[in-house]
Amino acid sequence: MLAEIEKYKKAELSSDIFWFKAAATNAFPENGGACVKYKDLQIAVFNFTRRGEWYACQNLCPHKMQMILSRGMIGSCENEPKVACPFHKKTFSLKDGKNLNGDECTITTYPVKVEDGFVFVGFDSHY
Ligand code: FES
Repeated sequence: MLAEIEKYKKAELSSDIFWFKAAATNAFPENGGACVKYKDLQIAVFNFTRRGEWYACQNLCPHKMQMILSRGMIGSCENEPKVACPFHKKTFSLKDGKNLNGDECTITTYPVKVEDGFVFVGFDSHY
């Protein structure tokens, strides 16, 4: 699964982004997340209402390989948007996926845009 995630990572590095139409904005709870599927990937999409921002990352928590991050608690740490895994509270930046606990495991994040009431997640179109 990690190899699959790597395959789709960091679409913003590519000039050629494919925008996947994930769902209507009202499918995502305010200040919470929901999981969408793109090909063989599960993507956690967060409607961060308090910040007026949207984020997307892999749904897989790399700590114990659980598909759970969409159900994590979101918040901010020194203005860094973050998600905490509900299992063991490992915390990840929603901007760049780094582990905010100082651990090595990180997550992949994806660009998000909202247009005409729908949420789109960006992937590298070469994959
Ligand atoms: S499974 Fe996510 S922190 Fe342990």
